[in-house]
Amino acid sequence: MAQEDVFKKIVSHCKEYGFVFPSSEIYDGLGAVYDYGQNGVELKNNIKQYWWQSMVLLHDNIVGIDSAIFMHPTIWKASGHVDAFNDPLIDNRDSKKRYRADVLIEDQIAKYDEKIAKEVAKAAKRFGESFDEAQFRSTNARVLEQQAKRDALHQRYSDAMNAGPDLNELRQIILDEEIVCPISGTKNWTEVRQFNLMFSTEMGSTADGAMKVYLRPETAQGIFVNYLNVQKTGRMKIPFGIAQIGKAFRNEIVARQFIFRMREFEQMEMQFFVKPGTELEWFKQWKETRLKWHKALGFGDDHYRYHDHEKLAHYANAATDIEFLMPFGFKEVEGIHSRTNFDLSQHEKFSGKSIKYFDPESNESYTPFVIETSIGVDRMFLSIICASYQEEQLENGESRVVLKLPAALAPVKLAVMPLVKKDGLPEKAREIVDSLKFHFNCRYDEKDSIGKRYRRQDAIGTPFCITVDHETLNDGCVTLRDRDTMKQERVAISDLCSLIEERVSIPSLLKRL
Ligand code: GAP
Repeated sequence: MAQEDVFKKIVSHCKEYGFVFPSSEIYDGLGAVYDYGQNGVELKNNIKQYWWQSMVLLHDNIVGIDSAIFMHPTIWKASGHVDAFNDPLIDNRDSKKRYRADVLIEDQIAKYDEKIAKEVAKAAKRFGESFDEAQFRSTNARVLEQQAKRDALHQRYSDAMNAGPDLNELRQIILDEEIVCPISGTKNWTEVRQFNLMFSTEMGSTADGAMKVYLRPETAQGIFVNYLNVQKTGRMKIPFGIAQIGKAFRNEIVARQFIFRMREFEQMEMQFFVKPGTELEWFKQWKETRLKWHKALGFGDDHYRYHDHEKLAHYANAATDIEFLMPFGFKEVEGIHSRTNFDLSQHEKFSGKSIKYFDPESNESYTPFVIETSIGVDRMFLSIICASYQEEQLENGESRVVLKLPAALAPVKLAVMPLVKKDGLPEKAREIVDSLKFHFNCRYDEKDSIGKRYRRQDAIGTPFCITVDHETLNDGCVTLRDRDTMKQERVAISDLCSLIEERVSIPSLLKRL
């Protein structure tokens, strides 16, 4: 099945099984805004817990905060977001549709890549085992021609983006490449102009002279402006970190790929404050630590790669993305940045207050350097759902859709089912739920055949199902069915709690780190 079709199935699965709904759906939805349903919120909370505990519980020099979404507007002037948090936009005059100029060009580069990949796949099929891909790529005339066009476009695009960006040049590239609007099919483009991504609103009544405030586009600035409060009240010594999970808002123009790019989303950010000169060593360490966190979920190392940034923002001296293999290619899920002392120095300058750290070891004051790890909860959610979604053909000729979620992140850990709705089996099943519900999220299900009930739990990723049968009333044992292997074992009710907890708890995941 084409990856595009797989992705469509995943999106509808998320809706059908209560993971993600389009926001305001009965009013035809609101672009790039989504709600999490009864199963989605549990998965999302578990992802957040896994991240929070890996930061705050496993590091005695990292603490958490929860800062407000509204902040003093000067913060966004100091951080550079008022002046430079922009996307280059272009409109098609015929369809009246608006696009990001950079995305139109990136899509064009991807088209060259697709053409090359198709040539390679065709040749691989033709030559079979003897196919030498590297040789084919370096000698085939059609591949070389497409590669040359791709590289020239990539170079021209990078130069234009690095020059400010050069808006006229971006438009000229779109015209020269004959890029058409996907809706109208025409090349009737407007000029390219910059568009700020921050949402703003007014605080206070207009009679008082209301103040323009912004919905934060990242949670990080809430950490920077609280850094000295936390350092002093927590008696923190450098190096130390501050972690935060919270909502962020960006008026994204090209909002695509479901919850990959949203206008309201959630970030998990950690700023690690270090002594100047040691930042690159810490950057390397956090790069490794964060990749390990991702890989501990068990989807396979081939699902991840680093994308080291060649061109760095003016305030950074190293940056990398952790990319995950989504059905639409490798995409950024997390950014790790060595941000120097840019943010703290800017806040010092704009607030006029000293936020230097006095280092008792070296007896000097300095503005710490910062390593930032920044991951989107929603992107993490999407990557987990995509990697877990499987359609399986069973030996008996039936098929099933199963979410092979890491057990510790699954919304429901255990479903308890009486074999029949009589003979005291429902009462026994409810008794089991009542004793286990303090430990994990359990569901009781007595409707339909056992087979159908298993399928329902498979579809939401429940790692274990328990069946209570007539024997249970005599021997105090139940059948425990494993989601992935579908194997069943007989287990004493008294052993259930420890057996399941060991496999589904967040600490079981943390111990892999
Ligand atoms: N403080 C640094 C920062 O915000 P970023 O690369 O702009 O860096 C960090 O964002 C992460 O936030 C991204 O790697 C991504 O996972 C997530 N993210 C950013 N924009 C998003 C959007 N519009 N929708 C969903 N997630 C987003």
